[in-house]
Amino acid sequence: MIIEKELEDGFKYLEIKNAHAEAKITLQGAHIFHFKPIKKEPILWLSNLAQFKIGKAIRGGIPICFPWFGKHKLDPSLAQHGFARTSIWKLVLSEELEDNTTHIILELTSNLETKKIWNYDFTLHLAVTIGEKLDIEMTITNRDKKAFEISTALHSYFNISDIENILIEGVEGCRYFDALSKKEELQNEKLNFTEEVDRVYFNISKNIDLVDKNRTIKLEQEGSNSLVIWNPWLEKSKTMSDMEDEGYKTMVCLETANALEDSQIVGVGESHVLGVVIG
Ligand code: BG6
Repeated sequence: MIIEKELEDGFKYLEIKNAHAEAKITLQGAHIFHFKPIKKEPILWLSNLAQFKIGKAIRGGIPICFPWFGKHKLDPSLAQHGFARTSIWKLVLSEELEDNTTHIILELTSNLETKKIWNYDFTLHLAVTIGEKLDIEMTITNRDKKAFEISTALHSYFNISDIENILIEGVEGCRYFDALSKKEELQNEKLNFTEEVDRVYFNISKNIDLVDKNRTIKLEQEGSNSLVIWNPWLEKSKTMSDMEDEGYKTMVCLETANALEDSQIVGVGESHVLGVVIG
């Protein structure tokens, strides 16, 4: 079942329910803000103070960072993580498949507004399959007459029992850039959390496990060389109006990305695919 819903101020989203799971996706940002397999805890985290407002990014779920991840390289006045997460996308396909999964495709094409910020012609397609697992594939196509450079992320917020209970497996041996100390470091062991973490890991393996007390969430990544790992901890949470002070305890971001040195050049007529299967 796919239902088109609208909040009071005209904020539109799709609610999907099938034999495997339920999910919610907004048209602004093609933002999946809920995914829950049947009889299981939600996999994605959503802030209790998340705001659903036109032009504002939602705190939780899976914001899409495009055409740049983080701050713009040259112009810090431009929106952090680019404009895809606050642009209105178009639903181009929704179908229920024979295996009871649901397939949705959303599209964002360059327009006068995006070209004022980033002067290139492009198409983004976000293909989402909702089944026992959540399968996301973003295809970025260059429709311009010149190549462009992008950095991207599927900025997934995961719902966890407690930040101090979890372990990230698959990052051992990876080099990372620590955005807090501005230094490069090497991750020798599996990652656990005792303080704020804001890092970009490089040469990341395809499979990452988020091991929690009573379950393991698995990420199977495609087209991604970096993984961003973020938890704001207490002090930073206090500075965010859309996050409760203690909100950091039940979330962690593992972001399937091509960030910093992994930025991609997409040639004329070429496409770049970034994807993740979560379950
Ligand atoms: C992470 C960054 O990807 O996103 C952090 O590494 C940033 O530095 C976080 O604070 C949240 O960003 P925003 O723009 O959604 O508040």
